[in-house]
Amino acid sequence: MRKLRLPSGESIPVLGQGTWCMAERVGRRNEELAALRLGLDLGMTLIDTAEMYADGAAEELVGEAITGRRDEVFLVSKVLPQHASRRGTIGACTNSLRRLRTDRLDLYLLHWRESVALDETVDAFRTLMREGKIRHWGVSNLDIDDMQELIELGGEEVATDQVLYNLSRRGIEYDLLPWCRERRIPIMAYSPIEQGRLLAHPPLKVIAEKHGATPAQVALAWVLRHRGVAAIPKAGTREHVRENRAALEIRLDRDDLAMLDEAFPPPTEKRPLEVL
Ligand SMILES: NC(=O)c1ccc[n+]([C@@H]2O[C@H](COP(=O)([O-])OP(=O)(O)OC[C@H]3O[C@@H](n4cnc5c(N)ncnc54)[C@H](OP(=O)(O)O)[C@@H]3O)[C@@H](O)[C@H]2O)c1
Repeated sequence: MRKLRLPSGESIPVLGQGTWCMAERVGRRNEELAALRLGLDLGMTLIDTAEMYADGAAEELVGEAITGRRDEVFLVSKVLPQHASRRGTIGACTNSLRRLRTDRLDLYLLHWRESVALDETVDAFRTLMREGKIRHWGVSNLDIDDMQELIELGGEEVATDQVLYNLSRRGIEYDLLPWCRERRIPIMAYSPIEQGRLLAHPPLKVIAEKHGATPAQVALAWVLRHRGVAAIPKAGTREHVRENRAALEIRLDRDDLAMLDEAFPPPTEKRPLEVL
């Protein structure tokens, strides 16, 4: 598994596993558990979840999937903005840890920014770190102005900005991605296959055929070709997990990249950060 270095020096896999929309249907539960466990077997040991997903049930599912394997996992969860006050963050983290059946998170993120001042949330993250309940903290859905504010507040240890990034959402290439790269802050790309909506795009199909691959693998290989970027696709089946893991072996060539640039042009001016 290719790795990516966090500012702390610790390495994480460039390809992880998302969990949004998991634990929403009882009939899918066993396959979702099997998919997450297979992902661990294949080295996709970064698991991304959130208190928001399925109202906590996704965290419970992850807790079950990693039982007996906690030390293999780089576990990421997120606090909702309405819980992100000094005291609320501590309470939300305690609840997440209980649902995840663990005593620590490897990375705790502010899910997105609302009215709570950033320094309150950062203070709470630091308290949680001192108490050993989280090992790193970071943010999600923060554009460059918010990131700048965070750094000015003294938040240089921010471990990642988790943002929407895929072929059809390239806005961050204009500013946020180079800004983070300069500061060695990794980007964690969410919805790397645009929740499946990229799969039917003709250029992806053409390139997939050329490589004996699938459009999902091409979409992932494209995100993963960037230095300093990790991707966290969500796969609810073992078949999709295997396929996603194999995307790491695909090398897109100059012709492929040119075709993709034509179909999904890179930004030529600032675009506000898109979110899902
Ligand atoms: N921070 C944030 O605000 C934020 C926002 C959105 C997402 N996220 C995180 O990022 C993760 C990924 O994003 P996402 O779930 O929105 O979208 P995604 O990973 O781009 O797409 C997930 C969809 O693609 C399908 N899929 C996965 N692998 C496939 C394959 N090889 N072939 C065909 N279809 C495939 C999945 O179906 P199956 O389930 O049937 O496999 C699912 O329907 C989330 O689960 C979550 O952890 C974070």
